[in-house]
Amino acid sequence: MAARYTEAVLAALGVLSVCSASSSSGSGASGKAGGEAEWAEPWDGAVFRPPAALGAVGMTRGLGSPPPGNAETVDLPVLLWWSPGLFPHFPGDSERIECALGACVASRDRRARADPRTRALLFYGTDFRAADAPLPRLAHQSWALLHEESPLNNFLLSHGPGIRLFNLTATFSRHSDYPLPLQWLPGAAYLRRPAPPLRERAEWRRRGYAPLLYLQSHCDVPSDRDRYVRELMRYIPVDSYGKCLQNREPPTVRLQDTATATTEDPELMAFLSRYKFHLAMENAICNDYMTEKLWRPMHLGAVPVYRGSPSVRDWMPNNHSVILIDDFESPQKLAEFIDFLDKNDEEYMKYLAYKQPGGITNQFLLDNLEHREWGVNDPMLPNYLNGFECFVCDHELARLDAEKAHESSPRDIPVLEPHIAQLSHMDCPVPTPGFGKVEEIPENDRVSLCSPGSPGDQASLELIEIRLPLPPHC
Ligand SMILES: *[C@@H]1O[C@H](CO)[C@@H](O)[C@H](O)[C@H]1NC(C)=O
Ligand SMILES: *[C@@H]1O[C@H](CO)[C@@H](O)[C@H](O)[C@H]1NC(C)=O
Repeated sequence: MAARYTEAVLAALGVLSVCSASSSSGSGASGKAGGEAEWAEPWDGAVFRPPAALGAVGMTRGLGSPPPGNAETVDLPVLLWWSPGLFPHFPGDSERIECALGACVASRDRRARADPRTRALLFYGTDFRAADAPLPRLAHQSWALLHEESPLNNFLLSHGPGIRLFNLTATFSRHSDYPLPLQWLPGAAYLRRPAPPLRERAEWRRRGYAPLLYLQSHCDVPSDRDRYVRELMRYIPVDSYGKCLQNREPPTVRLQDTATATTEDPELMAFLSRYKFHLAMENAICNDYMTEKLWRPMHLGAVPVYRGSPSVRDWMPNNHSVILIDDFESPQKLAEFIDFLDKNDEEYMKYLAYKQPGGITNQFLLDNLEHREWGVNDPMLPNYLNGFECFVCDHELARLDAEKAHESSPRDIPVLEPHIAQLSHMDCPVPTPGFGKVEEIPENDRVSLCSPGSPGDQASLELIEIRLPLPPHC
């Protein structure tokens, strides 16, 4: 009844004829136009069905008039990328993808949102805004989240109610459905690259270089790293070239460009490898969140002085390859240890033993590198965007099969349990000061520690009935 009502209303508005007219296949939209009433989306304007959006990629089968009551009519599931900035296909708005269990259609045409074949919506975490969420949520659709970044980019997702909006995740966490903890590590060979001779570094030290490098231009971040580095600088020389705590000029104009700082630019790499120790501090503290800040110094044969993922030990090539800041009771103690290694080549070189043949003894790391199906800058392997897309496709194909199986024998085959993301997929404890106690930090200096904070964010969250707790110190 609702269906007929919708059809009548849409016909009255002229929507059905608009859809028919815009259908490139000419098959018209009326065959299935009597969808559920709640699928008409206010923000999609008058457009009800998206034949033009999906017709061009072998999707026409279902768009004609299927034989009434023919349950065998097979349509490819549609995966709709909801975040406007991200669609890993070119050119066009839709593409058929072939995955392990079968094919799907990936689309970025939001008009496909109401289509019964649209089985999954894909979101890019950094762009996810409650105010833009496609509500009401349709029961037959999974929400899939790709968020390889830390909560700096979107704090909402590191709260239980935020992450549990999603069914499938690809995050930095090993616990996510499609884990990306090694997203910044191209492979074991990247770690094995030989280190430059120590005498080269000794020469740079003689010319006035500090033992430690700091290169950071994003200063106000949840890990509050500058507060620690400022204290550390009291006890050991640190050369800081980025905008945060800068005390030296990069040697060339090109290297002053912060855009160069996250690349593998050869001039930058050569410059960075002059340093024996690199301060490697992530912008937020989350289990399994590790970036190029950690892997790049290892590639260059420097020792990372690291603060970031609390579980970082699990991923290290051996158990003597990084200096973990949190192993030291104070910046002063850490400085003393770095100074000791700086003056003692034999002890220093032990930190680079993983570069020797057989030196990578962490089987967990090796297994993860070997078994991941995506690559980092590897033309022979899919990137993780397309990899995750196929993961979602396969998940939806399996879910469709399970639904059909249940429909055909409801007594024997139970309904599929919901699959819902967990907080462990974005495991980031409440931010704490990078150095010292909360009480010692002036109120006006707590910005980075206190997101989620702004009333605007909170208002937009209420749309999806989420209220986030503020960290206790805010
Ligand atoms: C570190 O490595 C040494 C030598 O391989 C080994 O004996 C020791 O058990 C390891 N320690 C940890 C905590 O894994
Ligand atoms: C997807 O997640 C939502 C929200 O947590 C949940 O209500 C729904 O049952 C899940 N759907 C599936 C297909 O698992």
